[in-house]
Amino acid sequence: MLQVNEIETFYGETQALFGMSLEVRTAEVVALLGPNGAGKTTTLRSILGLSPPRRGQIAFDGQDITGMPTHRISRLGIGWVPDDRRVFPTLTGRRNLAIGARRTRFRSWSEEDMCEIFTALQHLLRRECENMSGGELQMVAISRALMGSPGMMLFDEPSQGLAPKIVQDVFKTVLRLKEEGVSSLLVEQNALAALEVADRAYVMDRGQIIHEGSARELLDNAPLRRRLIGM
Ligand SMILES: Nc1ncnc2c1ncn2[C@@H]1O[C@H](COP(=O)(O)OP(=O)(O)OP(=O)(O)O)[C@@H](O)[C@H]1O
Ligand SMILES: [Mg+2]
Repeated sequence: MLQVNEIETFYGETQALFGMSLEVRTAEVVALLGPNGAGKTTTLRSILGLSPPRRGQIAFDGQDITGMPTHRISRLGIGWVPDDRRVFPTLTGRRNLAIGARRTRFRSWSEEDMCEIFTALQHLLRRECENMSGGELQMVAISRALMGSPGMMLFDEPSQGLAPKIVQDVFKTVLRLKEEGVSSLLVEQNALAALEVADRAYVMDRGQIIHEGSARELLDNAPLRRRLIGM
């Protein structure tokens, strides 16, 4: 579904990714872990064309998307839930969902589907986003991304700052998406929770992948886990 091959991404003259490669298969959940500044967000930005890599290739759904503008990449079916959620504050939940709505070759999701996944969303549709809590904004942000009919979702620290109940809902959603054939690339500080839902995991440090393996292996092998992610 997604192949990232040896990409090198820069901010001005500062290099942030050094030959980073990863793969996400259809209906697979992949965790991308690593310390602050490792390059996790930059990897997502590179995939989305927000920070296009200077070298290397990225392919999605059999197409080379390296250097493609972001709006075309998202229309191919890549959904993004950014770390700052980035909804339109003065618009209602409903308008935010409508703005994200696109058809792709992948499964489409309606407002009703989203209200079934997040029961609290119903009440948010008529409210303006500027008055919402972090958890409410996250539900809107995830729903908006799904309205774009993605084949793959990129989540950047989706559980950050959320109450435990909402964190649970977010991870349940990732599993529900998997059942529906949608892949997820999941960047998380909450590594143990991410590994519980992930099939495979990559660990990054200083712009490179330092480990790749099954999520189960990292969960079960405590010494390895402590060495790689310090928990
Ligand atoms: N806009 C930017 N301009 C310059 N350097 C940047 C910019 N954004 C990130 N960097 C640098 O790129 C490197 C990777 O940052 P990135 O945000 O991808 O890390 P991260 O793994 O997402 O970290 P965190 O866990 O803190 O979110 C860091 O050294 C960071 O300082
Ligand atoms: Mg980040």
